[in-house]
Amino acid sequence: VTTATQIDLETRVGPLVLRTPVVAASGTFGYGDEFSGHLPLERLGAVVTKTVTCEARAGNRPHRVCETPSGMLNSIGLENVGLDAFRARKLPRIRELPCPVLASIGGENPEELERLVAALEEEEGLAGYEVNFSCPNVRAGGARYWADARRLTDTVARLKARTRRSLWAKLSPNATDPGELALAAEAGGADALTVCNTFVGTAVDLERREFVLGASTGGLSGPAIRPLALAQVYEVTGRVRIPVVASGGVVTAAHVLEFVLVGATAVQVGTAHFVDPAAGVALARDLEAECARLGISRLEALRRAVRPAPPGSVAG
Ligand SMILES: Cc1cc2nc3c(=O)[nH]c(=O)nc-3n(C[C@H](O)[C@H](O)[C@H](O)COP(=O)(O)O)c2cc1C
Repeated sequence: VTTATQIDLETRVGPLVLRTPVVAASGTFGYGDEFSGHLPLERLGAVVTKTVTCEARAGNRPHRVCETPSGMLNSIGLENVGLDAFRARKLPRIRELPCPVLASIGGENPEELERLVAALEEEEGLAGYEVNFSCPNVRAGGARYWADARRLTDTVARLKARTRRSLWAKLSPNATDPGELALAAEAGGADALTVCNTFVGTAVDLERREFVLGASTGGLSGPAIRPLALAQVYEVTGRVRIPVVASGGVVTAAHVLEFVLVGATAVQVGTAHFVDPAAGVALARDLEAECARLGISRLEALRRAVRPAPPGSVAG
């Protein structure tokens, strides 16, 4: 019988060692510091901040979120405090957090991303960067702009040359071949890939004959996208050698293990935080019990260990 104390959830994502594989996803957990004193953040493997851009941004006009069957649409449009305020107001508090923090950074071109990394390299207290190459809700520097393999490789290489910290590339699922972009980011020297950001979607108000969202379209997240994200992670982990951090529809500890089974090394919790800000820490705690129940003593042994369905099983 495997007991909870025998389970080692320590997880290596490239050079970065996390206490557990459960990570708070960008844009769904503030800058992390807001929860200090309210939640046991030491239970999380890491926190990824809201995406920070060179200048502060107000984001898109409302409505910016709407509920959908088993999910939500958002078109926030990268509202954030901007680099200067992030350094002056957020980083001093982030440094005090009891878990590693990665700064999510976003840019309209490679130069902006280089500027962000150069500035943040002067600061203590960050474990790494997650580069948002995949925002569906901005006109410039969004997922479409970065869906260019050569641009992605060159940009990752330029950023990698400026830092010894971990560099994760967060990819969009809205690509004909997600594996191609994953290989491009790996070729540039990314330490890990985050797979994936939200899926482009929309909602219409029939009575008003209008889009619900001020920006017309948004990004779909939550349980609705978990099957899509599972397939993306399986596809990408079959193509690259670097670790993949899964993101999409995770609500329970069992979902974390499902993502590990299709190849993920760590797993992010996003939309679940809008139901309960303690979702990530609760799930990290439940993970030990879920591993014990399933007789799992090492997550490593589960990674990409999924098997084909046996012959004769009824197709759904
Ligand atoms: C309201 C909202 C804001 C988000 N903001 C960001 C962001 O600033 N940067 C980013 O990389 N991803 C952002 N995301 C995407 C999430 O980090 C996550 O990748 C995605 O929602 C899928 O995971 P989930 O189904 O667990 O939410 C945001 C998602 C939501 C719902």
